[in-house]
Order: sequence, then C-alpha cells, then structure tokens
Amino acid sequence: MSVNKVILVGRLGRDPETRYTGGGQAVANFSMATDETYKDKNGERQKRTEWHKIVVWSKLAEIAQQYLKKGSLLYLEGRIQTREWQDKEGQKRTTTEIVAPKVLLLAAVAAQPAPAATTWKATPRPPTILTVVAPAQGTPPAALKSPTKTFPSNVSVTNRQLRLQSRPKGLVAPGDLQLAESPVPELKDGQALAKVKYLSIDPTMRVWMAADSYLPAVGIGEVMRAVGFAEILESRHPDYKKGDRITGLTGLQDCVIVDKAAKSFFQKLPKIPFVSDTVFLGVLGFNGLTAFFGMEIAAPKKGETLVVSAAAGATGSIAGQIGKIHGCRVVGIAGTDDKCAWITKDLGFDAAINYKHPDWKEKLAAATPSGIDIDFENVGGEIMQEVLNRMNLHGRVVVCGFISGYTKEDPNMVSLGTVIVKRLHIQGFLILDYASRFMEAATQLGQWKMFGKLKDRETIVEGLEKAPDAINMLFTGGNTGKLIVKI
Ligand SMILES: NC(=O)c1ccc[n+]([C@@H]2O[C@H](COP(=O)([O-])OP(=O)(O)OC[C@H]3O[C@@H](n4cnc5c(N)ncnc54)[C@H](OP(=O)(O)O)[C@@H]3O)[C@@H](O)[C@H]2O)c1
Repeated sequence: MSVNKVILVGRLGRDPETRYTGGGQAVANFSMATDETYKDKNGERQKRTEWHKIVVWSKLAEIAQQYLKKGSLLYLEGRIQTREWQDKEGQKRTTTEIVAPKVLLLAAVAAQPAPAATTWKATPRPPTILTVVAPAQGTPPAALKSPTKTFPSNVSVTNRQLRLQSRPKGLVAPGDLQLAESPVPELKDGQALAKVKYLSIDPTMRVWMAADSYLPAVGIGEVMRAVGFAEILESRHPDYKKGDRITGLTGLQDCVIVDKAAKSFFQKLPKIPFVSDTVFLGVLGFNGLTAFFGMEIAAPKKGETLVVSAAAGATGSIAGQIGKIHGCRVVGIAGTDDKCAWITKDLGFDAAINYKHPDWKEKLAAATPSGIDIDFENVGGEIMQEVLNRMNLHGRVVVCGFISGYTKEDPNMVSLGTVIVKRLHIQGFLILDYASRFMEAATQLGQWKMFGKLKDRETIVEGLEKAPDAINMLFTGGNTGKLIVKI
C-alpha cells in the first residue's frame, strides 16, 4: 500500500447516480476529468484529458447527489491505494484507488463544460477508481473559513428601506440616509420577491450618494444603491424559483423585487458546500474580481516589487496575495499595526507599513530597496504620491480607487509630473467592464481559496439601520477585510 498524497481538481462528466446497498447505505457514482500534461515520444509536451471513475459512500453520496452536476468543478485530496482482486474467471486484477477524506465542490457550474460523459469509456487507459470514504460533513480546510468580527443588533427584521435624504458632506451624517417602511408590492408576472440577507458595503456607495460618476448619482428619495446577497421567497419570474440565491443591486433594504422587464442586474448563485454565503460579496464577489483584473492589468513578474495601499481591505488584501502567487515582493500599506500584522503573518506579505506612524515614508523606502515596479493604488493623495516617488523607470500604476478623496470636497490629488519623469504606465479600470469574464475569474479565485493561497477576513455589522455607520467605517478604517451588513 502506498501512502502518496494526491490532489485532483477536475470536472464531472455526468450527474452522479445514487443507489442504496441492501444495508441502506447510499453509494453515488460519477466520472471526473482532469487535464494532464505529458511528454510524447519526441519529448514534446502534450495535453490529454484523464478520466477517473469516482465512488462515494454514505452521506457524501447524498451530498453528491444534491450538489454535484455534470460540469461541476471538484477538488479531491487523499492517498493512493492499490487493491488486488480476482475477477469471475479467477484472473488477478489490480485497482488503483484514491481514498479521499477531503472532497470539495469548487464551482457548481463549470465555465467550460466537461466533455461528454461517455468519453472516458473510450479512453484506452483504465479509469482510476476513486473511493471516497469521507465522513458526512467532509470537514473543510481551514483556508475556507473567513474569520469574522461581528457587531450584534437587537432590531428585528421588518420590510424597511434606507432612502437617500441629502447628499453627504464629508462622512455620512445622521439623516443623510433615512429609514422608511414600505409595503412589499403584490408580485406581477415576470417578478420575484427576494429577501436580502447580506449587503456589501463599498466605498463607491459614498460616490453614488454625491454626484454622477460612472453611474448616475442615487436620486434624493430613492432607495440607496448597494450590492447584496438575497434569497428568493416567492416567484412569478421564469428564471427564478423559491430558494434560489442571487447577488446584484438589491439596494439598502430588507426585500427586493427582481423584475424581468426591468432587466435588473442579478446573478443566480450556486450552492457550494462549506463555503459561506458572504464569500460571494468578497473573494468571489466584486472585491475578488477587482483584485483579479487589476492584477491582470499590472502583469506582475517574479521578483518585481508590488506595493498595495488599503492593503488590509477587501480588495487590497486579495491583490497583494495575487502578487505573492506571481512571485512578487509585496509591500502593503495599512492604517493600524494589527492590520499590518495580519497581512504579513497570515497573508504572507513581505512587509507592511502603518501610514499613521510618523516615519512611514522612511519605512516604505526601507521595505522597497529595489524601488517599486507596480503600484496597486486604492487610496490616492499623499500615500500614492510617496509610492510614485519610489517607482522605478517604466513602472506600472494600476488605479483601482482613490478612497482618501471620496469624502472630501477638494481631494488632494497627486502631481502627474512624476509620471513623466519616471515614464510610468498608468491605467485606471472599472470592474463592470469585465462582466463577460467574471466566471473565468471566479473559478480561478475559488481554486486559489480552496488551495489556501487566498485567505480572507470579514467585518460584519448586524442590522440594516447600521448601514450608514458601516459606510463610514470604510473611511475611518473600521474594517479589516470585507465589510458586510447582515440583515
Ligand atoms: N475600480 C473598481 O472597479 C473598484 C472596485 C471595487 C473597489 N474599488 C476601490 O478599491 C478601494 C478599496 O475598496 P474596498 O471595497 O476593498 O474597501 P476596503 O479596502 O475594504 O476598505 C477601505 C479601507 O481604506 C482605508 N482608507 C480609508 N480612508 C483612507 C485614507 N484617507 N488613507 C488611507 N487609507 C484609507 C481604510 O483602511 P486603513 O485602516 O488601512 O486606513 C479602510 O479600511 C477603494 O478605493 C475602492 O473605491 C475599485
């Protein structure tokens, strides 16, 4: 018996088929495709698809039946075992099995569908049989869990909305957003009613409150625009049924109507066992996607120095970790010693600078002895200026956001003279422009998270009525990782 550890990531070729043994134990069978590379006779690298037959038992079989579908992306971790047995003719046969105590669904719907189920039968190589004998819960790896800080609320749920009453000056003031109650309208054909469970709190909400920008400003009296996670309660919409989970522009309210005619932007979400719902607002939501595409623009190369500002926030923490995946020296800038400790000790950043310490500029210089090749800019103002001062010739600046300016009438912008002197490549971007590639990016982010290469944290504030305070936390540094309001 071998004890070699194996990890397989692949797609299901067909829906699982479940049967029950005489003793009432559930057994599910399916096939999984993995992409392998090998060298042919001429030493050339070739790709081929390997097919593995998988057998899972007991509750895991029931879970498989419920959650896995043709095309699902699956992660298996276990050890190889060979088993000898005799066939009907008395011939000795050997089966290679993988006993896999860790079986995790990475994505319920595949970006690229797996080849037809029958393909594996045609392969000249015998399929590997994976016998999965994991316990029912299939304990998730620690990397999947997002440490959460919670601010509790005593207010019970009602059908309430936060409406924009006045455009804020500086931080959101009491009364800028007012709590109103409104009856849930009767559902018409083509509509579904969804209960909002979590709200993503994003710096851009402050921008939407103030003036027209890449989206029109929220109108006075309108429900405040926000991205949320919701569950369908009732449906007369052809695309949704009760229990479906969605993300999209729910607004700051308890319930939202999803209307086919209004072509509102909502996306149905897969049920992924062991993954919290809030992950769809953070690592697998707009922040993860923003970090992913921002770092794609940055085109990091091994050995380059990357500096990320707001580095302990939802976007910056992921961008920095993607830099590490690409082999960069990563330096984060954040506003507390605790945040700096988190990004270096837990997330693997090479150095972190607390910009509230008086000597932070000297510390930044010491942490970037070879200069800076890439600036992933989330903050703007003085922090960005200092980073630009340390950029190498022809360095790349990816402008993700200027949070230091969002609450100011007159934001302190950087001097673009440095861009000429250093011949910098500077590019801004908006995540909305990448909508057609969200699935591709989410699949990659999900895999990185599953392999423990991306860690995340959440700060959760309970109660819709606390959303205005939560928005301000972004500008006072009250959050570590993704900031969410739980309703
Ligand atoms: N381009 C896009 O499509 C796109 C999409 C999403 C987000 N963004 C941008 O990405 C940035 C981060 O957004 P996020 O949602 O991930 O928020 P976040 O980083 O989770 O939270 C904001 C953080 O910014 C820091 N901060 C606030 N004011 C600051 C100041 N004056 N100086 C220095 N740091 C300050 C605070 O941390 P400290 O304690 O470290 O100060 C705060 O925790 C924002 O600029 C946002 O607009 C852009």
